[in-house]
Amino acid sequence: MRRGNPKLSLALIAIAALACSGESEKSGDPAVARGEKIYRNICLVCHNADPNQAGALGPAIAGASRELLETRLLRGEYPPGYTPQRTTQQMPRFEFLEPNLDDIAAFLASRRE
Ligand code: HEC
Repeated sequence: MRRGNPKLSLALIAIAALACSGESEKSGDPAVARGEKIYRNICLVCHNADPNQAGALGPAIAGASRELLETRLLRGEYPPGYTPQRTTQQMPRFEFLEPNLDDIAAFLASRRE
C-alpha cells in the first residue's frame, strides 16, 4: 500500500499542533500544558507517551534540558560533553519549534520520575 510523504505528514501534524489550541488546559503550569500539547502532537510519533520510557523509535527523554532540546531540535547536534543515548541520526530537525523550547522543557521536566 502506498504511504504518504513522511515530510508532508510531519508538516501536517505540526500545523495541527499549532491549530488545536481550543483544548481546555488542565490546572497547573500553562507552559507544561503547552509543552504537552506539542509533545503529543509531534514527538509522540516516535517517542513514548510516557517520556520516561523508550518509544517506537526514540529514547526516553523525560527531564531533557533546555540546552539538549535546543541543540538536538534546532541543529541536530548535542551539547558539548553530552553523551547521546543513541548514535543514530534518525530524528529530523524541528527548527520551527524554537519559540516552544521552554514549554517542551517544562513539560519534560514535569514528567521526570
Ligand atoms: C521521526 C521520529 C522522531 C520524532 C518525531 C521525534 N524524535 Fe526525538 N529522537 C528520535 C530518535 C530516533 C532519537 C535518537 C537519535 C537519532 O537517531 O536521531 C531521538 C532523540 C531525541 C533526543 C536526544 C535524547 C538523548 O538524550 O540522546 C531528544 C532530546 C529528543 N529526541 C527530543 C524530541 C522532541 C522534544 C521531539 C518533538 C518535538 C522529538 N524528539 C521528535 C526520533 C524522533
